[in-house]
This record gives sequence, structure tokens and C-alpha cells, in this order.
Amino acid sequence: METLDMKRLPKHIAIIMDGNGRWAKDQGQDRLFGHYHGVISVRRVVEAAAEIGIQYLTLYAFSTENWDRPAEEVTGLMTLFVDTIAKEVPDLHQNNIKLVFIGNLGMLPEEARAALKNATDQTAQNTGLTLIIALSYSGRWELVEAAKKIAEKALMGAIEVEAIDESIFAENLATKGFPDPELMIRTSGECRISNFLLYQLAYAELYFTETRWPEFRKENLVAALLEYQSRERRFGKTSAQIQQI
Ligand code: IPE
Ligand code: IPE
Ligand code: MG
Repeated sequence: METLDMKRLPKHIAIIMDGNGRWAKDQGQDRLFGHYHGVISVRRVVEAAAEIGIQYLTLYAFSTENWDRPAEEVTGLMTLFVDTIAKEVPDLHQNNIKLVFIGNLGMLPEEARAALKNATDQTAQNTGLTLIIALSYSGRWELVEAAKKIAEKALMGAIEVEAIDESIFAENLATKGFPDPELMIRTSGECRISNFLLYQLAYAELYFTETRWPEFRKENLVAALLEYQSRERRFGKTSAQIQQI
């Protein structure tokens, strides 16, 4: 951690927490065992991110596509979400962490929605790390929702079609008010985005690691940050232009 350049930290890190099922299988256990162990990684990574001074952390916990998993796994995951949120909120609140949920939350069972609302309300005034949990989330769903909201505003005459620009678009996304992630991490070897933050990841540095999510710890986060800091972010410019700045 001492080798990190504290002046060049990303403000926002997004993580696709993948590999719980494969990790559990390797242990001769069922998939839910992997998800339970994944919660320990969430706790460690949230603590580490707060300690390092990251301002926004988005964790992909459940995708819209994940609803198509076997019913037993989906039910088990919902129970795990409700229990974990209830258990962790006091500590998160104590640590000044603000919880936000993004996704098609209407698809969640009533009990889960109540737990989320309680967690959001309790931590709303906190000023430390903003922890964004993507639940029942899909990037395409979010883009379609934004298009609908903007179309409605245009139909009502609240905005001119000509005035629609990238900032108006971003304001209609679930991540309104949050900076785009500069770094996206995916665990467990898969090199794809899987419908995560399609708009917001436009210029993120992508970091893929073989480490499975239940084994991901602070040192793995630091390794990702060191790799991030070793890259030159050019945003379309030339290397010479970047080095002049
Ligand atoms: C990620 O782990 C957690 C969720 C998608 C809920 P997986 O459950 O996808 O684990 P693998 O990819 O099958 O190993
Ligand atoms: C992506 O993981 C979603 C989450 C981590 C919540 P998946 O394991 O569902 O992704 P695919 O299906 O392998 O792309
Ligand atoms: Mg997976």
C-alpha cells in the first residue's frame, strides 16, 4: 500500500464480483457457499476502499440476467442480501458510509425492497465512502430507462430535443451525481462487461484478475490500483500531449 500514489487514486472503482460458484465447486461445496464467502470479501474490500480514500465504490451484486438462474440459487441470494444488509448497516453507518442501490429494484421481493430502503434512509446523510450496490441491474435497462425519462420530459416540454446532451443523459441514469468509474475490476478470469455500467465505463481502465471473488482481499485491490497507476490514460490524445500536462 505504501507504493500507491495517493494523489493519483481513482475517485470511483467499479467491481464485477465474479467466481463465487467456481470457487465453491473447487471446495466441493454448493454455489451458495461461495456466495456466503463472497460477503466476507465485500466487507474487506469496502473497509480497504474507505481506508485508502476511494470516494465511490460500485459493486455488481446481481444482474437482471441472474434472475434466470435456478430458483434455489436466486432465493438463496435474496435471503443473503436481506440478511447481510440488515447485519452490516450499523457498521457501515458507524463508518460514515452512504449506501445506494441501483437497478430494477421493483423486481425484488418486498422484504428485500424494505431492507434496501431502510439501509438507504439510515445512511443517507453520511459523507464518507459512497457504496453503490448494483442489484437486479443491467446497463441496457438503465439506458432504456434514461431514454424514457428524457422522452417524457421532452413530450411535456420540460426540455428541448436540441438541448439533450451528454450531461442531460448522464443526469437521467441511476448513477446521477456520481463520477464515472476510472477503474473497473472483474475477478475470476472472465474478460467481459456482462451488461455492467455500459455508459459510465466508456473510458474506464479495465482490470481482469484470475483471483476468484471469495479470495479477493485488500492486497488484490492494491494490486489493481498499482496497475491502474502504471497506465497512461490518453483520452484520445497522444502520449506526448499527455506528458506535457
Ligand atoms: C458472482 O459469482 C456472483 C453472482 C453473479 C451473483 P458467480 O455466481 O457468477 O460465480 P461463477 O461465475 O459461477 O463461478
Ligand atoms: C455478472 O456475473 C454479474 C455479477 C457479478 C453480479 P455473471 O457470472 O452473471 O456473468 P456472466 O453471465 O458469466 O457473463
Ligand atoms: Mg459468474
